[in-house]
Parts: sequence; structure tokens; C-alpha cells
Amino acid sequence: MNFTNKNPFIAGNWKMFKTIPEAVDMVQKLHEASVGMDGAQFVVIPPFTALSEVARALQESPIQIGAQNMHWEEQGAFTGEVAAPMLKDVGCTFVVLGHSERRQFFGETSETVNKKIKAAFAHGLVPIMCIGESLEERKNGNTITKVQTQITEGLEELDAEKICQIIFAYEPIWAIGTGLTATPDQAQEVHGFIRSSLAEKHGNTVASCAIILYGGSVKPENTYSLLKEKDINGALVGGASLKADSFAEIAREAIKAYEEK
Ligand code: PGA
Repeated sequence: MNFTNKNPFIAGNWKMFKTIPEAVDMVQKLHEASVGMDGAQFVVIPPFTALSEVARALQESPIQIGAQNMHWEEQGAFTGEVAAPMLKDVGCTFVVLGHSERRQFFGETSETVNKKIKAAFAHGLVPIMCIGESLEERKNGNTITKVQTQITEGLEELDAEKICQIIFAYEPIWAIGTGLTATPDQAQEVHGFIRSSLAEKHGNTVASCAIILYGGSVKPENTYSLLKEKDINGALVGGASLKADSFAEIAREAIKAYEEK
């Protein structure tokens, strides 16, 4: 399946929320709400426990499914972990890797992100790779250095053909779950940097096809102005993706912004 930055890409990261009935109810409502919104690519990213039932509920829907994390090994004695073939098995197309909450609370590093990206490709999953700076790093003027380091280390040993298929999510840590959003200018600055850095290291084709999402307190009210920016191709939404109506509204705003870009 091909994903493109010609249409907005809207992914909802549910984090550690929703039981199976709640998850199924949400995607049924989202499916109804998204009918006719062909201009957007939708992805829901439920907790592991709900993946199977969400996949069943979305069988007839263009809405795709992703997981929030995985281990890099194919199988083994890794209590509490989930492997790429298991995610494929349950109907996932995408996997989020390197989310700042994983980096902050669960010891994720760029090295493990790199291993996981390779494992995702080996099993036909599309990685959504998260990067972003802390408030302190931003205040110290280290945003670009931090993002550059995460990209370089996370993409080690990957060729242009693979990098082309990665979905990047720029998520300033200070904007996640805080209600603080990067301004469109702040976000565009980093997105523009990511694209030009990809061009410099991996060529113009990689840069022009890259899908670069913004994440961090995205809601219906700020989607349009963010998505109007040249290098912002979509959103990775946390809190506002938990309800079908706000998630669908974000997609609607994104489509409008894209039409007017
Ligand atoms: P938020 O989360 O939209 O609730 O800030 C975004 C994310 O963590 O992906």
C-alpha cells in the first residue's frame, strides 16, 4: 500500500486508553464520520489489547491500524513485549516507534528505535518514527541539534528506498498533552529542517516524498493553521483522537488546509 504526502495523513495515538468495547464503539463512529472524507488518510493506534477487535470492526473501512510500540526481535523470551509478526497478524499496517513517552519512561533510545525500524520493515510494517526536543533543549537553542541527532541515529544503515517509506512525526515534548502547541512557524521551522536534512543526506526524492507529521496538543482549532504550513503533512494526535467527532473534525480541517495550500 502506498501512502503519500499529497493528502493529509491523520493518525490517532490512543496511548493507554480504552477497553475493547470503547475502542470498537469509537472506530464505528469514526468510520461513519469519515465517509466522504476521501482527502484524508486515517490511522487509529489503539492499545495492544484492542487491536484485534478494532481490526475486525474496520474490515470494510479505509481506516488503517497501527500499534504503539514493538520489540525488534521476531520472537523470544521477552516477557511483556510484542513482536512485529504479531502486529501484522492482528491487522496492523503501522507501528509508532520512539514516542517520547517511551524514550522518557521506558528506556527507548535512538539505537533501539533503529533496531525496531529495521524489524518493522523486515515484517512489512510502516514505521511512524517520533522525534522532538524537550522544553529545556528548546530554551537552550538545541532543538535542531536534538532532532538532527535523533534522525541520524534512528536511520543508521537504512537506505533511501526504506527511508522514503518512513513516516516522521515531529513532536516537541513540551507540547505533548500540555495544551501548549508549537506555533505554525515553530513547527514549520523544524519540519523544513527535517526535509532539507533528508534531502542533503538521502537525496531529493526521499525529501519530496517524506510524510512529516506534527504532534503535540493538536486539536480541531489549531489543525488548519498547522497543516497550511508547507512541510506539515499531517498530524499525530493524542488526546483529541479519543473521540470520533473531534478526530473527524481534525481530518476535516486538515483537508481544508491542504486544499488551500
Ligand atoms: P497530545 O499527544 O495530542 O495529547 O498532545 C500527542 C502524542 O503524544 O502523540
